[in-house]
Formats: sequence, C-alpha cells, structure tokens
Amino acid sequence: MRGAVLTDLEYMVPVRLTVNGTEWEGRLDARTSVLDTLVTKLGVTSAKKGCDHGQCGACTVLADGRRIVACLALAASYDGAEIVTAEGMGTVDQLSELQEAFVAHDGLQCGYCTPGQICSAEGMLAEVRALLAKQGAGAELDGTSALLTDAEIREQMSGNLCRCGAYVNIAAAIGEVAGFEATGLNRAVQ
Ligand code: FES
Ligand code: FES
Repeated sequence: MRGAVLTDLEYMVPVRLTVNGTEWEGRLDARTSVLDTLVTKLGVTSAKKGCDHGQCGACTVLADGRRIVACLALAASYDGAEIVTAEGMGTVDQLSELQEAFVAHDGLQCGYCTPGQICSAEGMLAEVRALLAKQGAGAELDGTSALLTDAEIREQMSGNLCRCGAYVNIAAAIGEVAGFEATGLNRAVQ
C-alpha cells in the first residue's frame, strides 16, 4: 500500500496578502494561484484569466512592485506580499497617468488584456527607472538621463498579448508616459 494520501485539509496553508492597500488573510490550498486568490477571495475583477499558462499576460499584476503573471504564481509563495492590480492604480474618477494615456491613445478595443497591459507597463517603467538609477542616472530621472525606444517598449511588453491587435496604440500610450511619442526615435524617459 502506498503512503497515506494527503487530505484536502493538509494542503491548506495560511496566506496573508495586501491587495490594493487592503489586508487579506486566510487559508488556501497550497496550489492556489495568486490569480485565483484575487478573483475568488478578494473579488478583484481587473486581473483576467486568458490562457492560465503564463503565455498571454492578461493576469499580470504587481507583487512588491514587480510584475508577475498571477496565473503561474502560487499565493503561498507570495505570503506577505503587496499586490497591486489595475483597479489599485486609479479610479474611474481619477485614472492613473498610464490609464489616462491608454484612453487618450485608444489603446484598447475589447479591453480584456488592458488591465494586464497597464500593470505590465507600470512594472516595466519602474524596472527601467530602477536600472537607470543603478547606472548612476540618479533616483530622480530628469528627462535627460536615459533612453527608451519604441522597439524596447515593444520588447519589454512582449509577454502581454492583445487579441484585438491594439499594439500600435498601446505602445503610443506607454511611450507618452515614458516621455516621448512612440515613433521609433529615442527620447528621454521622464
Ligand atoms: S492568464 Fe496568466 S498569462 Fe495568460
Ligand atoms: S483590447 Fe482586446 S485583447 Fe487587447
């Protein structure tokens, strides 16, 4: 006879998350993803399940400031983390700069991928700024110390698919926030 089969109860682990500023604590099956936790336990509606295999980016959220694909991230591994989703970045009345840029540039059609695109773009811009700060550009970027090309934006955002093909406008929206029109020319990151 094989070893004792684990009961469902034995798979349960305590997990604590802060989601968009609100603390949540509970017990989860250790195999539960961050995405399923957000959707089923916290009522988050922005993070979307597209492929559930880490391939489309629709579920992208920020965990401690870094972008993750929430469908592949185990909630238990993010115990104690601060999670930010698209609805945590702005409200309908007060959109974030990036959200406003997406609206202004028509960076969406059906909108299914948009929360993930926005979270990914926020994370990407933070990564670029951190890298530049590390390289000695200074923690406060002044708009003259770094370059981010349209091609680089597209490369950095390549994990986020858009079935509607709104890529041109998505890149333009991100480019605007990065401090330039996404024309393919190098401009300064602000
Ligand atoms: S749903 Fe997570 S990457 Fe597609
Ligand atoms: S806007 Fe429809 S999938 Fe991107």
